[in-house]
Amino acid sequence: MAILEIIQPDNPILRKKAVRVTDFGDKLQALIDDMYETMLSAEGVGLAAPQIAESRRLILVRLPDDEDSQEEYGEEAGKLYVIANPKIIKNSHSTVSGVEGCLSLPGLFGEVERFESIVITGQDRQGNATRIKAKGWLARVFQHEIDHLDGKLFIDIAEKVWHADDEEEFEDSVES
Ligand code: CO
Repeated sequence: MAILEIIQPDNPILRKKAVRVTDFGDKLQALIDDMYETMLSAEGVGLAAPQIAESRRLILVRLPDDEDSQEEYGEEAGKLYVIANPKIIKNSHSTVSGVEGCLSLPGLFGEVERFESIVITGQDRQGNATRIKAKGWLARVFQHEIDHLDGKLFIDIAEKVWHADDEEEFEDSVES
């Protein structure tokens, strides 16, 4: 496994619409393993393939598994989601505002409105069809990652954006 470079917006790949994953062979499996290691090493809760300069529709999501997270998120804490070709097929009417950060935009945070709950379809790492219901923070991370596949960043839709050193640290922020 290897830790990959997380690209910044000066690399145009981050702004491109990514292409569908069709080959679930060894190369994709190795890429997923590398993305997982990269995400953990960067202490992110999500990573989309375009962030490591692979313009493909592939995302990883994993909420932390420390004691507090286990209490708050139950079995979702520490669970790894690997989804190829994810698509939001249902969303709640209700939206919630929350603080987000992004591994591709170090030091930036923003207040972003997202659907409170969503249903996603896609494929797992073997290519089998999968369907996930997510709410709260997990739903937020999925929406953030799926946006990456269309070249969208949270700063595009945030109500306000600030530098981390302007404010106190945000405990509940999402860096993905
Ligand atoms: Co991000």
